[in-house]
Amino acid sequence: MKQIERDVVIIGAGPSGLTAAYELKKCGKTVAVLEARDRVGGRTWSEEMEGATIEIGGQWISPDQTGLYSLINELGIETFERYKEGKSLYRTAEGETIAYDGEDFPVAPSTVAEMNKLIEVMNGLAAQMDPDKPWEHPQAEELDMISFHHFLREHSSDELACDNVGLFIAGGMLTKPAHTFSALQAVLMASSAGTFDNLVDEDFILDRRIVGTMQGVSKTVAERLGDDVYLENPVLKLEWSQDGVIAHGATVSVKAKKAVIAVPPNLYSRISYVPALPRKQLVTHQHQSMGLVIKVHAVYETPFWREAGLSGTCFGPNAVVQELYDNTYTGESTGTLVGFISDVDADAMWELDEAERKSQILQGIADFLGAKALDPKVFYLSDFAAEEWTRGAYATSYDLGGLTRFGSVQNDNVGPLYFSSSDLAGEGYQHVDGAVRMGRRSAARIIAKLEGSSYDESYDGVAPLGKVSA
Ligand code: FDA
Repeated sequence: MKQIERDVVIIGAGPSGLTAAYELKKCGKTVAVLEARDRVGGRTWSEEMEGATIEIGGQWISPDQTGLYSLINELGIETFERYKEGKSLYRTAEGETIAYDGEDFPVAPSTVAEMNKLIEVMNGLAAQMDPDKPWEHPQAEELDMISFHHFLREHSSDELACDNVGLFIAGGMLTKPAHTFSALQAVLMASSAGTFDNLVDEDFILDRRIVGTMQGVSKTVAERLGDDVYLENPVLKLEWSQDGVIAHGATVSVKAKKAVIAVPPNLYSRISYVPALPRKQLVTHQHQSMGLVIKVHAVYETPFWREAGLSGTCFGPNAVVQELYDNTYTGESTGTLVGFISDVDADAMWELDEAERKSQILQGIADFLGAKALDPKVFYLSDFAAEEWTRGAYATSYDLGGLTRFGSVQNDNVGPLYFSSSDLAGEGYQHVDGAVRMGRRSAARIIAKLEGSSYDESYDGVAPLGKVSA
């Protein structure tokens, strides 16, 4: 066992841990990052399959994600626009596929009006929220007591409008059924992206992608950290006192003044703390659970849907594949589609044997785009739920009532231990942007402590802390 000493040990080499380490190092602190997997990037991960670039995890960046934008600007990383020309498709509950232009689903005008009414209600609630402190919303308690499913139905008797608006947050974001999380949690999701309008606008929320892939951002930061990143070193034991910590990895143990725990919140209890964490944290950590979504990748010889004047964007709240997008990587001649199957539908998919699952999913894509979709050259399903060091997708959220009961504790440090994750962020919640912001904020709090200076509570993690290194 190699034993080393550093100012700060960082547990987890996802975007949050790596950003924290990078800022600390730029500010003159010594660091070591211990990562369980044999790669960096955490929930961002890409592979080449038959010549096509597949982003298995997080990939899109939206204009409000200024924390991530400032990091990639600093690293010299560019973005590209996703393909969105042509008509979109909507599949009705009756199995009819309808082509449409613009933002509104091709449903009855009365349903469009109800959807817009619900979106306005959500916009109004989001505007009253500080995403860093959702538990301080003027209606926090009442909104945290009611499921998002029932909240929508309190405001509209149009089932289809409720289903369609529910899909944006439930299947589309938190990847849990709308009856399992509160209306307050849904308002947080909207507030973290600025407005509910932003969330429902796929041209905003799925605006651009990263040249070199989203995992490439973590790889570039890791390169700058060099030998300070230790892969295949899961931390299963963490000794701590007010004076410092010892993090035990598989082949290296690190003695440090402070630790950044940058693993997803559902995995906090995978680490054995000696002594145990305080009661508040022990209880809170049991209420942060991962959603579940299957990200479907299908690569074809060409993006054949484009020739038919279609963007590849498809929605169907009752369809096998509920969302579908053209996900062809910049410069590639093949055509890549990405689709999503969420929560209870994902449960059902994983129950099937592999051949039946593939057949049902491809038929689901063909229901939108025709028989050509049945024969891809690559078919791959992202399965983060089966990964020991993630256990779900995209991210964690609280169960009903959890946000007001436990939320205010989630960002407290415990002596020398600081928690950092996209899932604890206000702005950029559940996104790489939030991971970056939280990484910078954790670094800033630790630097203030180590240097005896004061920490500016209003720091939003957008501006880097340290000078840019070459
Ligand atoms: P993250 O989970 O990425 O990293 C944590 C790291 O800790 C991992 O590397 C893990 O191996 C490690 N670890 C865990 N336990 C450990 C232990 N005990 N010891 C050592 N290491 C340990 N976001 C976005 O902005 N745009 C998007 O399009 C998407 N889409 C998307 C799709 C899919 C399928 C997923 C799964 C996720 C997304 N996301 C996304 C979310 C985004 O990927 C996520 O918010 C960030 O990766 C979170 O970064 P963190 O660093 O907080 O955690």
